[in-house]
Amino acid sequence: MEFTVKFSPIGKRVTEKRPRLLLDIAREAGVGLRSVCGGEGRCGKCKVMVRPAGRPTIIERQLLTEDEISEGYRLACRTTVGKDTEVYVPPSSMTEEQKLQIAGREIKVKPFPPVGKFFLELPQATLTDPKSDFQRIRKEMLGKYGVQIEKIDFKALNVLGPTLREADWAITVAVSGREIIGVQPGNKTKQSLGMAIDLGTSKIALYLVNLQTGETINIQGVLNPQIAYGEDVLSRIHYAGKSTDNLEKLKGEVGKAINRTIRKICRENRVVPEDILEAVLVGNTAMQHIFLGFPAKQLGLAPFVMVTNDALEIKAREIGLEICAGGYLYLPPAIAGFVGSDHLAMLIASEVETKEGNFMAIDIGTNTEIALKTRERVVSCSCASGPAFEGAHIRNGMRAGPGAIERVNIDSRSLKVSIATIDDKPALGICGSGILDAVSEMVRVGILNSSGKIDSGFKGVRKIKGGKSLEFLLAKEGRREITITQQDISEIQLAKGAIRTGIEILLEETGLKARDIDGVFLAGAFGTYIDPLKAVRIGMFPEIDMGRFTQLGNAAGIGAKAILISKKLRVRANQLAKKVEYLELATYPKFFEHFSKGIRFPIAK
Ligand code: FES
Repeated sequence: MEFTVKFSPIGKRVTEKRPRLLLDIAREAGVGLRSVCGGEGRCGKCKVMVRPAGRPTIIERQLLTEDEISEGYRLACRTTVGKDTEVYVPPSSMTEEQKLQIAGREIKVKPFPPVGKFFLELPQATLTDPKSDFQRIRKEMLGKYGVQIEKIDFKALNVLGPTLREADWAITVAVSGREIIGVQPGNKTKQSLGMAIDLGTSKIALYLVNLQTGETINIQGVLNPQIAYGEDVLSRIHYAGKSTDNLEKLKGEVGKAINRTIRKICRENRVVPEDILEAVLVGNTAMQHIFLGFPAKQLGLAPFVMVTNDALEIKAREIGLEICAGGYLYLPPAIAGFVGSDHLAMLIASEVETKEGNFMAIDIGTNTEIALKTRERVVSCSCASGPAFEGAHIRNGMRAGPGAIERVNIDSRSLKVSIATIDDKPALGICGSGILDAVSEMVRVGILNSSGKIDSGFKGVRKIKGGKSLEFLLAKEGRREITITQQDISEIQLAKGAIRTGIEILLEETGLKARDIDGVFLAGAFGTYIDPLKAVRIGMFPEIDMGRFTQLGNAAGIGAKAILISKKLRVRANQLAKKVEYLELATYPKFFEHFSKGIRFPIAK
């Protein structure tokens, strides 16, 4: 009898014919589950939540806490499954590779690029055949490939004469639509490449793609150097809006960083920028405006209007992007002032518009964009969730780096706190996923009440500010103490409250309930590393079955790549952008009602 094992939030489903060990099923399915002891039942790292869960073994009773056992956690190396089973793999049980793999959940796209390369061996010009070089190419392109060429880019025309003669009349031409955009000596048709760029507020991701096969050849990420001018979008808008010099400075910084990375990628992959025939760039509206040198001031002022939200196709060199001489930069359409083309790219990567049912796609960041796709509509909104989950405004907060506490467990009986830090380094501070864990554990064991007040009666809770406030001790490393303060809790409440408000308003607007949601896609760096279970526990997300969550990783980058590879998808993305309805939360009549509910914590059971 066949049965299905579904792994979430990875979104992997496998069919089995006979009862087997869960760890073996996971390994074969490519689910990167940690198994430090090699399945001997000694390390406890293969911990997963299983539904339905069988009776725990003696080893499981030794390696798991009572709380975990009652929640359905079991060890994959001690669990045999023989019927339909849902397996939730918490981030702490995933291998680094798995985390990386999630960081870009690929979608299948059939390559159909708008650009291509053609190899030509031309008859030499003679006194009896004195056609111009361009005329000769047009004739050959029509005769050999049936491609009607109408124009040639000025820069390509500039090098055409010498390239033809130096290459003995055997050249490769790069063509976009009916225009020749580049000329290279010899046969370079195999190097038909494209570059997808996801321009984020803090990071820039670049993907070198083979346009013929759709394969990603290389991915590199760099920090957005504009960070030096302000951490969030609004401070950058503010800075850029002060003077043209400032705008040029921000534009120049990001342009230089992108070109430097393009050159590095080319060097490492033994190709040249001339082989990159086209680039696609997605980003939030402000980043895109600044990158193009458009005035960004208006984005910071109500009613937050963009210069244009249409797709743009411009010569890459016009903004100094170093790719093929006459190559184009394509920018997919944006949706609204705070919902940019990166949101559209995320929707493409999640493939929500091709699915039957009701789906939500959430990209958590300083601004969290949420889309709800129902059977008839796609409605999106943007929530000002702030940088608390990036560790900002949290007393011991830090970005996710070595030594950051990323996992927290509190034993409900002894209140003993266990932590895990990135790279197992001594605890330095706490990053977003750790903050989420800590708060959710404090809610679970009752240290926090529904309004977010720390209860002074618990072990580990102590008074600060001369007794006016409280904090909870998470870890002590020598003389360094890492605590969660009452003020930190308030910051988290504002952040998670903003996200929950967005979700509730979208549900209300579409007449749906949380139980009607068939799937939730989580995108972005934070969305990739958080434990959705903990997010539900603090009320950031409504009660939705864990099996319905899928973590996509950098979905904006994956979407940009898909748009780069396929002309058809470009059309679909444009149609989708027109279909998405933008909902302004600030003017929504019941906004404050939802927000005051959203900041509360679900009462611990
Ligand atoms: Fe070590 Fe399961 S792999 S306990």
